[in-house]
Amino acid sequence: MLSTLTDATTEHSMAPRSMPLSLVCVAGARPNFMKVAPILEAAKRHPAVRAVLVHTGQHYDEKMSALFFDELGLQQPNAYLGVGSDTHGRQTARIMEAFDGYLDSSPADVVLVVGDVNSTIACALVAVKRLVPVAHVEAGLRSGDRTMPEEINRLLTDQIAEYLFITERSAEKNLVREGVAPHKIHFVGNVMIDTLLRHRDLAATRPILTQLGLAPRAYAACTLHRPSNVDVMSAAENTVRALETLAKRLPVVLPLHPRTRARLEHFGLLERVRSNSSILLQEPLGYLDFLALMAQAALVLTDSGGIQEETTVLGVPCLTFRENTERPVTITEGTNQLVGLDPARIADATDEILAGRCLTGRVPELWDGLASERIVAVLAGRPSGSGAVRQ
Ligand code: UD1
Repeated sequence: MLSTLTDATTEHSMAPRSMPLSLVCVAGARPNFMKVAPILEAAKRHPAVRAVLVHTGQHYDEKMSALFFDELGLQQPNAYLGVGSDTHGRQTARIMEAFDGYLDSSPADVVLVVGDVNSTIACALVAVKRLVPVAHVEAGLRSGDRTMPEEINRLLTDQIAEYLFITERSAEKNLVREGVAPHKIHFVGNVMIDTLLRHRDLAATRPILTQLGLAPRAYAACTLHRPSNVDVMSAAENTVRALETLAKRLPVVLPLHPRTRARLEHFGLLERVRSNSSILLQEPLGYLDFLALMAQAALVLTDSGGIQEETTVLGVPCLTFRENTERPVTITEGTNQLVGLDPARIADATDEILAGRCLTGRVPELWDGLASERIVAVLAGRPSGSGAVRQ
């Protein structure tokens, strides 16, 4: 049986220890920072755990990284590996080499990785080869699309993890089907939602709407960066058509991810977007401004994973510009719908929402702000001083 930890204190009392558990938490890319922040906070409060943060440097721009540390009150990294951008193979290899060096001098009882980015699989692989158990937060999510680099990272990380912390029940089925032993799976809730709930009130005080000249519920917030949507000319053109379709109906705020900006520029499409007066191009926004923007939008159009979950909790309709999702609970219970890559479907779905026929949803089970406490409680129950993997 998998364990469902509704009581964060469940495992605190296990295994008396003399030394605190040495927990190395890894973050590398923008969507990782809001996931490790509450885990590090929960670890700080737990006497049996001593946690450190390693930043791989996969994302390095001020607006993709440093800003998040400031806004989330995230502790400065104990180590910064500075790997930067490269092809997937070289980037993953560089993270592995640097993280191996880090573990040479800083032994760990458990290495905790989050999400599905290249830093996730790279550090998990290094740890498991050193017989250090891996904890994977957000395990078991599957899009079924192996052309997504994140899907490969998820599949492989889950195969080598010892602790699989899941956000929704569909993940358990996926993991069991792939041969993961049920006792390794822990249904704990969603750490990204821990962060959202903690920062929601603060975000509401940000003047971003006034700065952009927007009224609440009278605009769409949009993020697009998947390689499949922006890396190839035909896909990038289709993405721009989708934006234009939306912008005919209401103003669209578009904070541009660096890869999207670079690809649109490369394909000669950036000027077309820039000259559309209903599209408000922005630099990547910080966590609080983007949260404020999402919370008051009429709808959100995205190809991101995490934003599907955040809009579900905010109760804001989300149109996902993809053919699949690894987060089905956002559709079955939340406010998310897949609109595929067809601008006509976006038009229809937008018209429905603007006519008041909104998707209403409910907050999924255990997305209650306590996921990090549950994770730390499970890990604190592990005997310290030994990195050996239980067989
Ligand atoms: C990565 C994750 C993706 C996540 C996304 C969020 C993988 C496989 N993908 O994609 O799951 O949703 O982050 O942002 O790990 N760049 C900068 N500055 C930065 C970071 C990146 O300019 O600080 C540019 C570089 O041109 C780089 C490109 O973005 O080549 C891609 O960056 P990378 O981290 O490799 O992947 P993302 O596309 O950001």
